[in-house]
Amino acid sequence: MRMVLALLMVLGLVVAPGAAVNAAPVAQAREHKVGYDKYSLTVDGERIMVWSGEFHYFRLPSPELWRDVLEKIRAAGFTGVSLYFHWGYHSPAPGVYDFSGVRDVERLLRMTEELGLYVIARPGPYINAETTGGGFPAWLKNVDGRARSSDPGYTAAYREWLGRINPILARHQVTRGGSVIAYNAENEYGANVDPLYMEQLQEKARADGIDVPIVHNNCCNGDLPNWSSGQGAVQIPGVDDYPQSFNCPDPGTWGTWGEGVTRRLRDDAPVYAAEYQAGAIDLNNAGYEKCRELTGPDYMKVYYKSNAIGSGATMFGYYMLYGGTSWGWLPQPNDVYTSYDYGAAITESRGLTTKYDEFKRQGYFMTTVAPLRKTDPAAAPKPSDPAVFTQARSNPDTRTQFVLVRHTDRRASSDLSTTVDWATPDGNYSVPVRVNGRDAKILVAGYDLGGQRLVWSNSEILTHVTVDGRDVAMLYGREGEQGSTVLRYSSAPDVRVLEGDVRSSFDGKDLRLDYTHSGLARGLVSGGGRPPMLLLLGTDETAARFWRMDTGAGPVLVRGTSVVRDAKMAGDKLVLRADTDAPGDVEVFAPARRLVVGGKHVETRRTPSGSLLGALPGPRAVTLPALSDWRYRAEPPAFGDTGWTVADRTTTASPIKPKTLPVLYSDDYGYHHGNVWYRGDFTAEGTEKTVSLNAITGKGGSYLVWLNGRYLGSALGGTQADSEAPVNRDPGRGDFPVPEGLLAKGKPARLSVLVTNMGHNDDWTADDTRFKQPRGLFGAVIGDAKVSWQIRGARDNDVERGPLNTGGLYGEREGWHLPGGHGRWERPPATTGPGVSWYRTDFRFDAPRDQDVSVALRFGERAGKYRVFVFVNGWNMGQYVNGGPQRDFVLPAGVLKTANSLSLAVVSTEPGPGAPVPVSLVQLGNHRTGGPLR
Ligand code: GAL
Repeated sequence: MRMVLALLMVLGLVVAPGAAVNAAPVAQAREHKVGYDKYSLTVDGERIMVWSGEFHYFRLPSPELWRDVLEKIRAAGFTGVSLYFHWGYHSPAPGVYDFSGVRDVERLLRMTEELGLYVIARPGPYINAETTGGGFPAWLKNVDGRARSSDPGYTAAYREWLGRINPILARHQVTRGGSVIAYNAENEYGANVDPLYMEQLQEKARADGIDVPIVHNNCCNGDLPNWSSGQGAVQIPGVDDYPQSFNCPDPGTWGTWGEGVTRRLRDDAPVYAAEYQAGAIDLNNAGYEKCRELTGPDYMKVYYKSNAIGSGATMFGYYMLYGGTSWGWLPQPNDVYTSYDYGAAITESRGLTTKYDEFKRQGYFMTTVAPLRKTDPAAAPKPSDPAVFTQARSNPDTRTQFVLVRHTDRRASSDLSTTVDWATPDGNYSVPVRVNGRDAKILVAGYDLGGQRLVWSNSEILTHVTVDGRDVAMLYGREGEQGSTVLRYSSAPDVRVLEGDVRSSFDGKDLRLDYTHSGLARGLVSGGGRPPMLLLLGTDETAARFWRMDTGAGPVLVRGTSVVRDAKMAGDKLVLRADTDAPGDVEVFAPARRLVVGGKHVETRRTPSGSLLGALPGPRAVTLPALSDWRYRAEPPAFGDTGWTVADRTTTASPIKPKTLPVLYSDDYGYHHGNVWYRGDFTAEGTEKTVSLNAITGKGGSYLVWLNGRYLGSALGGTQADSEAPVNRDPGRGDFPVPEGLLAKGKPARLSVLVTNMGHNDDWTADDTRFKQPRGLFGAVIGDAKVSWQIRGARDNDVERGPLNTGGLYGEREGWHLPGGHGRWERPPATTGPGVSWYRTDFRFDAPRDQDVSVALRFGERAGKYRVFVFVNGWNMGQYVNGGPQRDFVLPAGVLKTANSLSLAVVSTEPGPGAPVPVSLVQLGNHRTGGPLR
C-alpha cells in the first residue's frame, strides 16, 4: 500500500500531505492536481471547501430527476455531493453487472460535472444505508468466506464489483477533468475488523486507477478502529456524527448522542465530517415530519455551527440531503419502510423545506468566505455573561476571525443579550451579542469582504458578490434582533438608506451601522476610499429568499422564485432557469440590463438598489384523475405448473443451519427478492394432526398456508436464528391444525405456502450473522410425511427495472404488474378470500410541460390484515402495510408517464371485500419550471 502511494506521489497524482501544490488556472486545465494538508483539500493548489451531502441515485429511479435534485443541492450552496454506489443494485447474479437506464451512474457523474459539484465516491463494497444487505447483492449470501474480510471467497466477489465500478469512478476523477475528488473505502468499518482487507481494498482502488485521496467514514466519533494509522490506514479518515440519535417520536430531544464535534484523527489531513446527521431514520414509526423536526433548523444552527468552529472541518457530508424512496426490494427490513424521506432538507417528493433554507444560509457563508478553508483554534472573545459560550478560529494568513456564540448549556432556552470583548485584527471592541435558546451564530471579524473591510458584525454573513465593480453583501439576523456592523474607511463614506431603519456613524476610521433585523433593509455606502457597496440587511426568512449563482461573468444574486437552477450571462441578458410555486417578484443583482427566465423575456425596471425588478407567474392548477374502473384477478395458491425448482439441497452456505432438511432457503435456489411460493407434495397417512412451519422473513414478513387448496392460516415470519442472542431455533413458528377429513391415507396431498420475504439484513457487525440470515422456510414438519419440495420465485431479472423490482408472485411472473396487463381481467367480486388479489386500472397524468407536479398514491382507511404491493407501469413503488406508518407512496416523473397502468397486489391473511383498497392520487407539489426538467 505504502509503495503504491509512493509511486503515485512520484507520478504527481497524489500530493504528499502538507506539500505545496502549484497553482494552475483551474478554468483552463482539464486535468487537475488534488492535494491536501491539515486544513483542506486543494485543487491545483487552491483550497476548497467540500460542503457536501448525501444523495442516493438508487432511491430515485428516474435519471431526469437526478438532475432536479442535484440542481436543488447546488442552489443551496453545496459544492459537492457524497454518493454511495450500491453493488446489489447493479448485480443480479455473480459476474452480471448492469450500468444502464436507472443504473447509469456515468450519466449521474456527468451531471455532477455539468453542475460543477465535487463527488465523494463511496462504492463500499459495503455501504449500510438501510438498504437490503447493506448494499451487498443477495447472491453474496451463497458465497463462502466472511463478508467484509480478506477471506478468499468474499475477496473474489468484491473484486468483481470494484473491477466494474472503480474504472468508472476513475474516469470521472478531478485529476482527469471530472468531479470525483475523494474515494471512500468501506463504510464504518469498526467491528470485527480485518486490516488486510482494508489495505487490499485500497490497493485494488489504486490498481483500478483511483488517484484521488482515499477517505473512510468512522462510526461513533473515532472510538472504534478509525483507520487513521497502521495497516489499512486511509489518507483522510473521517467521522460520522448523529448527535440527535434517531428518536423521532421525541423531536424535542437534544444531543442524545453527544456534542457532535468531529474529532481530528490525523494531523496531516483535513478534518472530515463524513456523515453528519441531517435527518433520521424513522425507527419508531413516528413519521418523517417528526424526524425533520428532530433535525430541524434549530439543531442545524447549533450543531453544524458548533462543529464548523469546534473542529475546523473543511470536508462535510450531510446525511441525507435527499433521502428518496426505497422502492422495490431496496429496504433493509429492520430499520426502514418504503419511504426513505429521512426528514431531509429536500423531501421525498423533492420539495424544499425550512431545513433547506437553513442549509442555504450556512452553505452560502461556508462557501463564500474563503478564509474559512484554513483556520486554527484561536482565543475566543470573553462574554460578560457566563451563560453565553464563545469559541473561535482564525485564519493564520488573513487573520480573519470566526467566533461561535451559543448558550453554555446547550439545552437552555432563554433569550440572552450580552457583550463580548473582542480583540479583532482591526482593534478591540465591545460587541453586543444576542443569543436565543437553541440557537448559535458564527460572527466574523477582520474580513476583506469584496473591496470592503469588515471590522466586525454581530449579524451573520449570508454571502456577497461583486457586480459591475460594486459589492453587494447580504447579512442577516433573527427577526427583531438588534444588529451592528462596523466597516473601515479612510475617510467618511456616504451612506444612503434605501429601505428600512439603519443608523450610521463614522468616527474617523470606522463606519458603524446599527439596525434592527426586520424584513429587508438596504443601504448604499460609497466613497471613503473604497468601491461602492450595497448592503442588504435581512432576517432568516428574507435571507432564504436569495439565491447565489455562479455565471461565466461571476456570481450573481437573485431574490424571489422557489429555486434558481441555473444562471448565465448572454451579452447584457441574465438568463435564468428558475421555478415558481406562486406568482411573485423576481429581483436580480447582476451585470445585466435584461432578464430572461425559463426562456421568456421578463419586463423589469431598474431599482434604486441598482437591481432589476420584475414579476413572474406561478404554476397553473392541475387536477389529478380519480382512480376508477378497477379490474380484478385472483392468484390462487401455487397457481401454474411451470417455473418450479426442486428444493432438495442438504447443505447451505448460510451460517444458520435449517431446523429440518431439505434446505428451503430461497436464496439457495437463486430467488433473492420478494415473495416466494412453496409447494410440498406428500402421500398422506391420514393421521397428520398439524402442519408445523418456521419461516425467516426479516422483520415485518409473514406467510400464508394452504393444504389441498384449503386455507389453514398465516403466521409472522421470524427475524432471528442461531447465532443471534438469545439463540432461537424456532423462529417464525406457525402450527396449523389439519382439518378433519382433509387428508386420506395413501392419497396425494399438497401443501402450498406463500412466504412474503422482506429485504436482507445488513452486515454492520461484519460477522455474517445478520447478513447471511436466510429468507424463506426454516423448518417444516407434517407428521411423519416425507415431503418433496419445490420453490418458485421471480422469473428473470427485469432488465429495465433491475434485480430489486420483482418478486415471485404468480402475477409478477406472468406480467400482471406490467403495462399491457397480460391476459384476462374481470370485474372485482363481492368478496375475496385470504391470499393474493390483483387489482388494476389505467389513468392519465397530464401536467403542463413546463410544470413539475409531484404526485403520490395515497392509501385510505380499510380495516383488515393485508399488505399491498404497488406497481406503476411495472415499477414496484413500495409496500403498503395496513396499520403501518406510511400512506403516501411517491411516484416520480419518469416512472409516472402520461398514460399509466396501476396494479395493486393485495396479500390478505383473511377474507375481505372485493373492492380494491381505497387509494387516490394526491399532489405534493406544483412548480412552474419554465421548461421540462430534462
Ligand atoms: C451510518 C451509515 C449510513 C446509514 C446511517 C443511518 O451509520 O454509515 O449508511 O446507515 O448510519 O442512516
